Amino acid sequence: MPNLNWTRHMAEYVRNPQFPNYGASADPRPVLVDCSLGVNPLKLYPDAEPVKMYASQYAEYPGGHNVQALGEYVQSRFPTVNPEDLCFGAGSEGVLSSLGRTLGGSGVLVKAFKPTFLPALVEFASAGARVETLELDAPFKIDIDRMIAALDSGTTLVYIDNPNNPTGQVLPLSELDRLAQACRERGILLLVDEAYADFVDDANSAFGLTYDNVICTRSFSKGCGLAGARVGYLLIRDRELLRHYQEVGALFTCSKAASDLAERVLPSLSLAHMRQGVKALKKAVLEFLSGYPQFTMGATSEDTSILFLVWEKEDGDLYDELMDAGIMTESGVYFALTGGGRNCVRLRVPPQEQLEQFKELWQRKFGPGA
Ligand SMILES: Cc1ncc(COP(=O)(O)O)c(C=O)c1O
Repeated sequence: MPNLNWTRHMAEYVRNPQFPNYGASADPRPVLVDCSLGVNPLKLYPDAEPVKMYASQYAEYPGGHNVQALGEYVQSRFPTVNPEDLCFGAGSEGVLSSLGRTLGGSGVLVKAFKPTFLPALVEFASAGARVETLELDAPFKIDIDRMIAALDSGTTLVYIDNPNNPTGQVLPLSELDRLAQACRERGILLLVDEAYADFVDDANSAFGLTYDNVICTRSFSKGCGLAGARVGYLLIRDRELLRHYQEVGALFTCSKAASDLAERVLPSLSLAHMRQGVKALKKAVLEFLSGYPQFTMGATSEDTSILFLVWEKEDGDLYDELMDAGIMTESGVYFALTGGGRNCVRLRVPPQEQLEQFKELWQRKFGPGA
């Protein structure tokens, strides 16, 4: 039998993923406190009425990209948005994937800071685009002027996640506005990924920027607590790009069952209450970790649910140590930092009811703290 050896044609990142456990850990060790994925640590819909679903409603395909009721919900929060400029998909990962297919291609150059949410960049790379990253040094504070200085005639698109994943830092809208204008003057698209933005005031959203070169993605997964439903959306104000996206991006990507669920529960969500709850948890975790000077914290905001820790023990594996302690996080390797990143983790705050247990497990591992 000939050896087909088909894997040799695969892209390197597929054949040799740096950290295949992200997003679906296959780690067999027991997890006592899960601080890994960016789900909402609060129970947001404890009293939600069960959503009645009638199988007969699901015989048809859902609408192509737009979901009217969800568009109206988004518009109620962002009045300058025309619901017709919104496209819904299977999480923001789903819309980013369709966007990569629409905008990627050989000759396309995407620029981004690192660390960042790498799957978005992979979407463009897998469509043939070249991706260049500007590496930030700890504490990874994003410097818009560095990006502006790096914009050249070859740049097609700048990707920026705000809030940043993994650090949880938030750029003020005025900074994004400067970047958007600099990009616009040079004919460059700016993609702002706001997957974590529901933790932050809506006034800070790039939805408030009305330049036609700004594309913005958001998600109901994190702040809105619907990660399992898989609904995300994208705002494209440029008519031509919107048309291309709708023609080339995958059709029927937002399941009707998911949009029905989102449509039913979102109006009952108090964003103010949710933000207050997450902020209290984040403040408690930040205060606790400040007693451990052997860890450097990446620049972060009190509003977001995530933070990034760098352990001074450069050859240590922080994910592994914490996993042994029963605390599951996401390894820094996944965010592909210079030097490997095994001594770093992204940590999502634990739920309130596990905060004390988190602290105890941590103290058992790293001592009582200062
Ligand atoms: C910056 C960023 N964008 C997009 C996503 C994808 O989220 P979802 O597909 O659940 O909307 C994530 C998830 O971690 C993220 O951190």
